[in-house]
Amino acid sequence: NLQLLRDRGAWIVAPEAGRLASGEQGIGRLPETATLLGAARQVLGKHGDLAGWRVVVSAGGTHEALDPVRYIGNRSSGRQGFALAEAARDRGAQVHLIAGVTDLATPYGIERQNAPTAQAMHDAVLAAVPAADVLVMSAAVADFTPIAAAAQKIKKREVAGDGAADLIVELRRTADILGAIAARAADFPDLIKVGFAAETHDVVAYALEKARHKHLDLVVANDVSDPQSGFQVATNHVWFCFPDGRVLDHPLLLKEEVAERIWDAVVELRSSRHTEMPS
Ligand code: CTP
Repeated sequence: NLQLLRDRGAWIVAPEAGRLASGEQGIGRLPETATLLGAARQVLGKHGDLAGWRVVVSAGGTHEALDPVRYIGNRSSGRQGFALAEAARDRGAQVHLIAGVTDLATPYGIERQNAPTAQAMHDAVLAAVPAADVLVMSAAVADFTPIAAAAQKIKKREVAGDGAADLIVELRRTADILGAIAARAADFPDLIKVGFAAETHDVVAYALEKARHKHLDLVVANDVSDPQSGFQVATNHVWFCFPDGRVLDHPLLLKEEVAERIWDAVVELRSSRHTEMPS
């Protein structure tokens, strides 16, 4: 019967496994509300303005290990990137989400790959972009990583003896992912590239500089010193900065609304390029 329904074009949301009313364990539970809503949104949006597009979105922060128990990280929650992934799905895109460190659950209908370090993120993004039409790098990727992670927990006595000596950690630059893609621009001539800039001062000036320097089509800048914008909050105040110097200042919006505006801008970029994209 399921096959017959599929043949007739019905979209099947499979039952979930777990504890059943009978007391047995197995497949047969009503899916979670988030799954049902995700499926409904995906079905309703399948003919949206991103239909046929393959998008890669990176989200969340990276953790760079100092030893088996400690790391250098950042305050990115992944919310803006996950909102971007869901919004793209809801507009018909096929979404590959490359997730750094985040507590967020994988949204329905989205292929998720975890990449918890800058190196893993680099490898995952570079492997994914050859098949992509758009890359949105919303992940907060570490710019520096410890030269070598200690194999065993660093003991303070071993560093400082009984005294108060400081622990000096040497860091090296991580591979710049957008930089690597810019350096291979000829391999990805049609890829639309969107970067983020999390700044605390001179936000627009730095973001415009990043757009040109990293050969990006758009940089989404936010002022992370504003408590309502950026890390770990539901809202964002963003500026869209284009390499030709154009700047669009948006009001404070929910991250879901920011995501929709970013995809609107990507759709506009595509039409202004007159690039042949899949329909
Ligand atoms: N990014 C990247 N590879 C890295 C680090 C960051 O591709 N190793 C991406 C981020 O995902 C983001 C953009 O680059 O889209 C941020 O630009 P970047 O110049 O790296 O910003 P910051 O890390 O804030 O650097 P700076 O300290 O120079 O402002």
